[in-house]
Amino acid sequence: MHLLATSIVNIRLPAIHALPPYTICKMAAREEHFLSILTESNFHKAVSVSYISHMLWAQWHTIPLPAPDFFAGQTVIVTGANIGLGLEAVRNFTRLGAARVVVACRNIEKSERAIKDVQASLPEAKTVFVPMDVDLGSFASVAAFAKRCALELDRVDAVVENAGLATGIYTTLEGHESTITVNVLSTFYMALLLLPLLRRTAVQHNVRPRLAIVSSEAHLLARFREQHAPNMFAAMQPPESMSHDRYNVSKLLELLLVRELATVLTDHSIPVTLNTLNPGMCRTQLFRGLPFGVRHIVNGVLHIIGRSSDMGSRTLVAAAAAGPETHGQYMDTAQVWKVSDFVSSKEGAAVQKRLLAELLEIFEGVEPGISKNLE
Ligand SMILES: NC(=O)c1ccc[n+]([C@@H]2O[C@H](COP(=O)([O-])OP(=O)(O)OC[C@H]3O[C@@H](n4cnc5c(N)ncnc54)[C@H](OP(=O)(O)O)[C@@H]3O)[C@@H](O)[C@H]2O)c1
Repeated sequence: MHLLATSIVNIRLPAIHALPPYTICKMAAREEHFLSILTESNFHKAVSVSYISHMLWAQWHTIPLPAPDFFAGQTVIVTGANIGLGLEAVRNFTRLGAARVVVACRNIEKSERAIKDVQASLPEAKTVFVPMDVDLGSFASVAAFAKRCALELDRVDAVVENAGLATGIYTTLEGHESTITVNVLSTFYMALLLLPLLRRTAVQHNVRPRLAIVSSEAHLLARFREQHAPNMFAAMQPPESMSHDRYNVSKLLELLLVRELATVLTDHSIPVTLNTLNPGMCRTQLFRGLPFGVRHIVNGVLHIIGRSSDMGSRTLVAAAAAGPETHGQYMDTAQVWKVSDFVSSKEGAAVQKRLLAELLEIFEGVEPGISKNLE
C-alpha cells in the first residue's frame, strides 16, 4: 500500500483530487495504512505549490535526446535492462549510435530477450550488444559481473545503474532487507568495483566517463527514522523496521551516497562524473508487486499522467551523457535540479558522511581493501 501512496503522492495533489471521493474512501477503508502513509511521510513538507507545478510541467514535458551520434564509439552499461526504463534506455543508446551496450539483467535469458527486442526494433543499428547476468541480491554476483566487465571490456564510457526494487514485503538478501540490498548496497558495491575500469577508460581514451544512479523524487517523501540510530544500516535490518517508508528511504540513501562519494572523488587525478537522477512517474512494471486491485488503480493513474518508458528512459540517457557540472548532482527532467531541504541541510550532510562510512565498513567485510578504489 505504501507504494500506492508513494505513487499517488508522486503523481501530485491534483491527481488525488482527480480521483472520485468514493475511490479514495474505499482505498482508505481497505488499506488501513493509507492515511498514516500520508501523515507519516514528509508529504506536507515535500509537496509545495512550486514543487507541484514543477512536477506537473515535468510529467508532460518532452525530454530531448542528445545529438544522434552522441554515443558513437562509446561503450555503455545498463543494469535492469530487460524491461521498463532500462530496456528503453538500451534502445535509446542504440539509436544514438553506441558502439557497444552491455545489457545487464538478472539472468542471461532476460539479457538475450532484451537484445532481440531492441534489434527487432532497430534492425539497421551497428551496435554490438553484450549480454551479461548480474543479480543485485547477491554480492558475489555483483563482484563476478564487475570482474567480467574489467576482463572483457576495453572501455566503459557510461554506466547506468538502473536496476531497482519496490516491495512492501520483508525479505532479506545478504543479511539486509531486500530493498536496501538491491537499491543501495549492491548498487554502490557495483559502483566502487567499476571505478577502476572507468578510470582506465579515462586514461586510455582521454575521456571523462560517467556513472549515473537512478534515484527518484520519492526521496522527498522519506521520513528516514533510522537516521538517528547509532548504525543506520543495522537499524534497517530487523523485520520490525520494515515500513512503507523503505522504498523512499532507499532512494534518499542513493542520493545522499552519490553526494558524499562525489565529494570524496572530486579531487581525484582521474575524474569520473558521478550523478543521480529522477526519471519521474513512469508506466513501467515497478508496481507489479502490489495487490491486484491496488495495482489496477495505480496503473489507471499512470495511464493518465505517467511518462512512457521511452520518455522516462531519456532521463537516464541524459544523465549518462551529462558533463562534469552534474558531478554529485541530482538531475530531474534531464537537468540539474534541487534536492529536498533535508538533503541540502547540515543534518543531511552529516548523515551522508556517516552513511558512506557505514557502507564502506559493510563492503570491507565483503571484500577487504575495496575502500582503496576511492583513492
Ligand atoms: N517507474 C517509475 O515511476 C519510477 C520512478 C522513480 C524511480 N524509478 C526507478 O527507476 C528504476 C527502474 O525502474 P522501472 O520503473 O523500470 O521498474 P521495472 O520495470 O520494475 O524494472 C526494474 C528492473 O530492475 C531489475 N531488478 C530488480 N531487482 C533486481 C535484482 N535483484 N538484480 C538485478 N536486477 C534487478 C528488474 O529485473 P527483473 O525483471 O529480473 O525483476 C528490472 O529489469 C528503479 O531504480 C526505480 O526505482 C522508477
